[in-house]
Amino acid sequence: MPISFSHNFATHIMGSSYHILLFTIFISLSVSFLFDISFASRGKTLDDGWTPIKDPRDPKVVSVGNFAVTTHNSQAKSSLVFDSVVHGETKSDGGTNYNLTIAAKDGDDTLRNYVTLVIDRPYQNSFVLVSFKGPV
Ligand SMILES: *[C@@H]1O[C@H](CO)[C@@H](O)[C@H](O)[C@H]1NC(C)=O
Repeated sequence: MPISFSHNFATHIMGSSYHILLFTIFISLSVSFLFDISFASRGKTLDDGWTPIKDPRDPKVVSVGNFAVTTHNSQAKSSLVFDSVVHGETKSDGGTNYNLTIAAKDGDDTLRNYVTLVIDRPYQNSFVLVSFKGPV
């Protein structure tokens, strides 16, 4: 009898932890399913993490564009004259990445567009010029 009792007891314990396991799996699947739906419904523009810049004349955006031209000039021994930021987008990852289309003049009065990628690292108090391409 004592053996039979402990056997039933063990079966009971194992049975309930099996149910807990099933329940946990069920909850995990439901949660991940809901997350899939919420990510899918966010739309394509936010999928890659880039957000369009609302105001290209924002002083901060302009200072990033100016930095890109100035830094490119000293690296490439060019003498572009910054005019304005035409449009752009930002992406956060610790700092802020700026992908900007810039209008600049190159020795004449014609405005041409350039595409530049700058990383703002506020914690290092610095901008980093990643790329500068153009005219496009
Ligand atoms: C930056 O923007 C330009 C056009 O505005 C696009 O062609 C380019 O792929 C973008 N670069 C990145 C790194 O997203």
